[in-house]
Amino acid sequence: MAVRPVIALLGGGQLGRMFIENALRYDVQVHVLDPDPDCPCARIATHFTQGRFDDRDTVLRFAQDADVVGIEIEHVSTEALEQLQGLGKAVIPDPGTLRTIQDKGLQKQFYLDHGIPTEAFTLLDDGRDLVRYPALLPGFLKSCTGGYDGKGVMPVLGPEDAKRAFIGPCVLEKRSDIALELAVLVVRSANGEQAVYDPVEMVFDPRYNLVDHLRAPARMAHTVNEGAKQLALRVAEAFGTPGLYAVELFLTTDGRLLVNETAPRAHNSGHHTIEACASSQFDQLLRLYTGLPLGDTALRGHAAMINLVGEGGSGPADLMGLEEALRIPGTFLHLYGKKETRTGRKMGHITVMAADDTALDRAIALVKAHVHVRPRRAQVITSTNKPH
Ligand SMILES: Nc1ncnc2c1ncn2[C@@H]1O[C@H](COP(=O)(O)OP(=O)(O)OP(=O)(O)O)[C@@H](O)[C@H]1O
Ligand SMILES: [Mg+2]
Repeated sequence: MAVRPVIALLGGGQLGRMFIENALRYDVQVHVLDPDPDCPCARIATHFTQGRFDDRDTVLRFAQDADVVGIEIEHVSTEALEQLQGLGKAVIPDPGTLRTIQDKGLQKQFYLDHGIPTEAFTLLDDGRDLVRYPALLPGFLKSCTGGYDGKGVMPVLGPEDAKRAFIGPCVLEKRSDIALELAVLVVRSANGEQAVYDPVEMVFDPRYNLVDHLRAPARMAHTVNEGAKQLALRVAEAFGTPGLYAVELFLTTDGRLLVNETAPRAHNSGHHTIEACASSQFDQLLRLYTGLPLGDTALRGHAAMINLVGEGGSGPADLMGLEEALRIPGTFLHLYGKKETRTGRKMGHITVMAADDTALDRAIALVKAHVHVRPRRAQVITSTNKPH
């Protein structure tokens, strides 16, 4: 490991913030680029630059002195990453892999070409062409580029949904009969060594189409657990480039495992690894960036991660019910440092560790009952609290 290497990170959100929290133990320098001067990394990065990570020249300038370039969001300039790689810098993920993943159409085609099981689909030049594929309905329409956190994805029931379909290139995918949604993290080193975490079970909040909470181990048979790990390892092997891969899977009601999508970066489904594993997803990234050996992925107990998502509108954030939650043994609070809350915005998370599934269920229910992030109420002036 070089002395105080400079890691240039594109994106300054909560993933970057949790990466920095761990990276500081190794005495590295983390430079962050993000358009928002108030982003979660802005005040804790070794050096913060305000600017666009999807602009080639801005990224080139920002990372010119770095030893390693990493991402914490996918919508970055791959052209800049290719040039930086050409200059001899370690770029993780590989820009070619990122290009494939950035486009949901290329990504689905990649799975097909590599014999990786995925739901039946077709590629459309325009979402409204879904009327030509009744065999894929009901299904899901996914905009090839630009979607994030469920925003580029819509369920489509029949041809009449063409009216509200995305305009432009899309993937139309058959609807899977999902028994469980899983995510499996794999880390792959420069010499092709791979390590895999236990699958986690994702439980969605139907209101925002965001993960509400996740739990590990997932409640499923040992053979399915092993099958999910093997499939995720195959995905990383197929990409064949160093990096951290979060592989989202569907376990169907008839017992098949299908790959939904892969993120080549730290992922919401891996936050529990901070407390539940000796080496977290962020620690693995640091090890990759600095050429250190991969870490231990074994799960130490039962863990759940509950997203703290903004409710009830926007404004300066107020956090309620923390005291009750933090009295539960084995709870860990992570606040992302976002001043403004919005409905559906991820403001933080709580990880809970427990001895078994029953204790875990109880703790999840308590946290969810008590903790809320809402906009601070405007003070109502009445005759009794009127300032004199
Ligand atoms: N073929 C499908 N069948 C059933 N449900 C699906 C299917 N595709 C997507 N979904 C549901 O929609 C959710 C979001 O879809 P997906 O993961 O493809 O997009 P996304 O997570 O919004 O993308 P991004 O990672 O860019 O934010 C899935 O987690 C799943 O609940
Ligand atoms: Mg997804």
